Amino acid sequence: MINHLTLIQPDDWHVHLRDDAALITTVPAAARYFGRSIVMPNLKTPVRTVNDALLYRQRILQHRPKDSHWLPLMVLYLTDDTTKEDISAAKKSGFVQAMKYYPAGATTNSASGVTKLERLDPIFEKMQELDLILQMHGEVNDENTDIFDREAVFIDRHLRRIKEKFPELKIVLEHITTEQAAQYVEESDRYLAATITPQHLLYNRNHMFAGGIRPHLYCLPILKRDTHQKALIKASTSGSRKFFLGTDSAPHELETKESACGCAGCFSHHAALEFYAEVFDQVNAMHHLEAFASINGAEFYHLPLNQSKITLVREPWTIPDEIPFCGGKLIPLAAGMNINWKVKLP
Ligand code: DOR
Ligand code: ZN
Repeated sequence: MINHLTLIQPDDWHVHLRDDAALITTVPAAARYFGRSIVMPNLKTPVRTVNDALLYRQRILQHRPKDSHWLPLMVLYLTDDTTKEDISAAKKSGFVQAMKYYPAGATTNSASGVTKLERLDPIFEKMQELDLILQMHGEVNDENTDIFDREAVFIDRHLRRIKEKFPELKIVLEHITTEQAAQYVEESDRYLAATITPQHLLYNRNHMFAGGIRPHLYCLPILKRDTHQKALIKASTSGSRKFFLGTDSAPHELETKESACGCAGCFSHHAALEFYAEVFDQVNAMHHLEAFASINGAEFYHLPLNQSKITLVREPWTIPDEIPFCGGKLIPLAAGMNINWKVKLP
């Protein structure tokens, strides 16, 4: 039995830090042991331009703990109005790592998202030319498509076409949730990779309705049936280079989750790496955790691996029931549950 694992410092390739008072909680949580975090641009007013990203980055860095070297990696939000000049400026900035595609209306703060994906073809062409990564929220937002099918339909309706038309465009299919996505990514070429969240590895849709409706497990793309959960566990723990850590940690205050129309998103930064360790350990794949958490993402983004190491130890502890957030509180992922792994900080 492994009781101890030292690995290259991990990165988080997908997180929501929010803005203003939320940064007091989210930034130190992100900086606790990750080397870098890809920061999602879906603020109430989206991060659309290089200048928006520059200012947001400065606000984030004001909350970085004194002795920390953690770095926020910035992303711009694609809209119907994004221009080729925006793409050139993003590339030239040197600190914008990717562009994020949200289908309009598909999820939290996506009202300014893209209404017709085909219209972005000239933008994708430019991104391919300049080697700028495209991150996709891979769901169709279509009333006629069942919510549990939206990711698989997105692959068939859109992603296959985009891959054919822009074969050298680097794409990250974000927070994948289905067997179809895992298989499509695994079988695809080196220009396509995917992030996987802890909640989609730890839970399936039954957990969301265990004894009643559990709003703190509601996220988008929504949890799917257990066969999909199993396929995601298999993909992430396989040692494949195409899958990497992206927590999608997305805090919402308690009242906005426990509501007649609750927000989508799970906060997981209180135990992010520990959650993944739990899953990898359960399938005897701890030896593949370093690739998933610390290597595959950096290689896909063409960034150097982190220099330092961190250590996970088998040491049971209990996830807190709640965490202070923005003057109120939030309910963290797996609140009140026992977990076997803990990161030991130097
Ligand atoms: O569950 C989610 N929450 N999915 C998303 O795509 C957005 C995120 C958020 O910003 O809360
Ligand atoms: Zn997200």
